[in-house]
Amino acid sequence: MKFLITGGAGFIGSNYLHYVTEKYPEDYFVCLDALTYAGNYNNIKDLEKRDNFKFVHGDITDKELVDKLFEEEKFDIVINFAAESHVDNSIKNPSIFLTTNIIGTQVLMDACRKYGVKRYHQVSTDEVYGDLPLDRPDLLFTEDTPIHTSSPYSSSKAGADLLVMAYYRTFNLPVTISRCSNNYGPYQFPEKLIPVVISKALKDEKIPVYGTGENVRDWIHVHDHNVGVDMIVRNGKVGEVYNLGGHSEKTNLELVKLILKELGKSEDLIEFVADRKGHDLRYAIDSSKVEKELNWNRSYTFEDGIKETIDWYTSNTDWIDNILSGEYKEAYKD
Ligand SMILES: NC(=O)c1ccc[n+]([C@@H]2O[C@H](COP(=O)([O-])OP(=O)(O)OC[C@H]3O[C@@H](n4cnc5c(N)ncnc54)[C@H](O)[C@@H]3O)[C@@H](O)[C@H]2O)c1
Repeated sequence: MKFLITGGAGFIGSNYLHYVTEKYPEDYFVCLDALTYAGNYNNIKDLEKRDNFKFVHGDITDKELVDKLFEEEKFDIVINFAAESHVDNSIKNPSIFLTTNIIGTQVLMDACRKYGVKRYHQVSTDEVYGDLPLDRPDLLFTEDTPIHTSSPYSSSKAGADLLVMAYYRTFNLPVTISRCSNNYGPYQFPEKLIPVVISKALKDEKIPVYGTGENVRDWIHVHDHNVGVDMIVRNGKVGEVYNLGGHSEKTNLELVKLILKELGKSEDLIEFVADRKGHDLRYAIDSSKVEKELNWNRSYTFEDGIKETIDWYTSNTDWIDNILSGEYKEAYKD
């Protein structure tokens, strides 16, 4: 089968491509990525040696380019990882979030309708459900939890999800959606909490923590997320939403302290900073649907996964330095 993987030079998409190009040598994977500031060609450069991989530099909102690619490649499956993904940026500049996350989704689905595909899969987020109170650990997001967003980022992802379900209902486009909790693992851009903490701690720099650090996130290893996406795309029911969660709730402060301990660094590096506007309190996911229907489960415990992740960043300081210096932008030449 021929796959279009958008946003494959980013954190989750690049981990997905490493996993599937190895696992399915009989399938062919085309990665379409605009290489925005968050896209890093170094994440997937090695895959160019493989017979079942090709990189295309381009924007999912570019209808002409997308149509041409669909016409040439005749994709069976489209998985849309491409997005503007950083909540803080969406507070500063919502516009690009609406363009990429909503219009980009529409352009891809229109091409799917025009050229025909077996499946369009939208990689979404638990953030579309808003947040849960800190004092109700019994509450979890299920697929039936109403959409109730807090940030321009989550609103743009929710808008895209609604559009995906509308294309299913109106045009019978064979769609699925996955909504996953916070990912950690290799190749995460050093603007997100875990790589920021590791890279700053390694340099004995102050580590900013929003508010009092009480906000709770449910952490999942990126590999477990990607195994879930793969199962949903291959065996999930058309028209369905599937939650994927880590069953690993930690406050931000707990997480930062744990990483500092692992690195043998002092908690004095922690610096509390003004809270993020509209900061969601707690995310927690009920993923029993995908566990029952598709037999998905996590292979990582948080304890093992975070240790392996810290090891990866400490052994790949070049990867982070290359981003911090801006040199990574030179990795791909058109
Ligand atoms: N990171 C998480 O914890 C998390 C959790 C749940 C869901 N998600 C979702 O998973 C997907 C991937 O997230 P990520 O953390 O890997 O993001 P990322 O920011 O690391 O990567 C996004 C990728 O998309 C590319 N991209 C951006 N705009 C594009 C455009 N217009 N055309 C083509 N490519 C474009 C970027 O160049 C980059 O390679 C996103 O849809 C995100 O909403 C992320």
